[in-house]
Amino acid sequence: MTFSIAHAEQELQKRSATLNPRWYPRYHLAARAGWMNDPNGLVWFDGWYHAFYQHHPYSTQWGPMHWGHARSKDLVHWEHLPVALAPEGPEDKDGCFSGSAVVDGDTLALIYTGHKFHGDPGSDDNLYQVQCLATSRDGIHFERQGQIIDTPAGLHHFRDPKVWREGDTWYLIVGSRVGDTGQVRLYSSADLRQWQEEGVLAEAQEGMGYMWECPDFFTLNGKRILMFSPQGLAAEGYRNRNLFQSGYLIGDWQQGQPFSTDGEFIELDHGHDFYAPQSFLTPDGRRIVIGWLDMWESPMPEQQDGWAGMLSLPREIRLGADNRLQMVPAEEVATLRGSYYPLLAQQLHNQRSHIVDDAEAIELELVWSMKSATAESYGLALGDGLRIAVDTQAQRLTLERRYPQFALEGTRSIALPAGDRLSLRIFIDRSSVEVFVNDGEACLSSRIYPLEGQRELALFASNGRATLHSGGYWPLDK
Ligand code: FRU
Repeated sequence: MTFSIAHAEQELQKRSATLNPRWYPRYHLAARAGWMNDPNGLVWFDGWYHAFYQHHPYSTQWGPMHWGHARSKDLVHWEHLPVALAPEGPEDKDGCFSGSAVVDGDTLALIYTGHKFHGDPGSDDNLYQVQCLATSRDGIHFERQGQIIDTPAGLHHFRDPKVWREGDTWYLIVGSRVGDTGQVRLYSSADLRQWQEEGVLAEAQEGMGYMWECPDFFTLNGKRILMFSPQGLAAEGYRNRNLFQSGYLIGDWQQGQPFSTDGEFIELDHGHDFYAPQSFLTPDGRRIVIGWLDMWESPMPEQQDGWAGMLSLPREIRLGADNRLQMVPAEEVATLRGSYYPLLAQQLHNQRSHIVDDAEAIELELVWSMKSATAESYGLALGDGLRIAVDTQAQRLTLERRYPQFALEGTRSIALPAGDRLSLRIFIDRSSVEVFVNDGEACLSSRIYPLEGQRELALFASNGRATLHSGGYWPLDK
């Protein structure tokens, strides 16, 4: 099959007309139809935020990757635009893989991975990944400029370029696999076209993964953060529970030197579904991260509805005094709020306290007093499928989902924060939940699949008492 943007558009029009909306997000970005994975090319250009994404318009399964495209004035109301890239050229004939965008004068430049097999696609020995450039003046139509970096000799997995500028120099990092060691390689350029190798910026120490996908490198409070998505980390107690992780290393970097870090990899999100995050800057200097709100090889029940995959809320990241990243919803997210409904401060005793019948798009703020609680478990429930609860025996905040009919069952958790107050901002959309703990200390994000009649939202306390100190909610309107 030969691919083109026009053909992809026809297919999307046809497919989006028959989509079942029961789990389709009300206020998150998802493809019009078909498959979506990583966010790509997040950038502010010419008065708009642009979000591109890995996209397969022809089915709800991953396939030859296109770049889907949407734009927004405020990071929460998105307008779909035509597919930006299709795998049309010899350099990307098997897929336009992940990458980034930069503004170069009056031009929007996309730098992405051309994915191609020379021969049998069944073997990695035939795989070549090269870095490519496409440019646009209007931010909608892109001209392919072809390959800008070839696969280094001996490598096969070499993808996901992230580009930024420092002074007069463009830098590019790219994730690679050398034997069974994940690496990030650095390049520099004066014009986005000719690139010089600058060596290895960072590589996996023992146990830190065989491939590092989607690297990103930026400064916060004078420290350098290397954010990436490693493959091949073993689960360890409560850590690294998902198939693949996403997280960061903190350190220092001078041009011409390797990245110096203590090597402690910290996960960004503790839910079931968060991968391949990418960051970008707002015009007023905030560093925002958006991730793919899914996990590879996890069941995606929305595939039966004609679509698959969605992006997370935009999250502002800051570096805390403890040298940890904090993530809070970007302030624009509050513009989605409808009227405010306060919840009464209350003691719950072995009971369920009803909030709303049909929570489809809602933000809640709940502040619990933990010290006085005797309940073994207390928190928020959505139908029988989702619980966000304090487990007082384990001393953990847990997110438990139970959708056995879709083979999605299990718990993710974090240690309870110190102190008496547990403050939660919880965002529920038709098939997702994102929990922000104590103003950014931690975050848990998961996909959920409530069926008809399973969206009753309630507070609960089992085997004892719990105290809701304060709280309220906002229906989120489009
Ligand atoms: C990460 C990733 C990238 C790759 C893309 C392919 O989820 O595997 O490394 O570029 O997805 O769709």
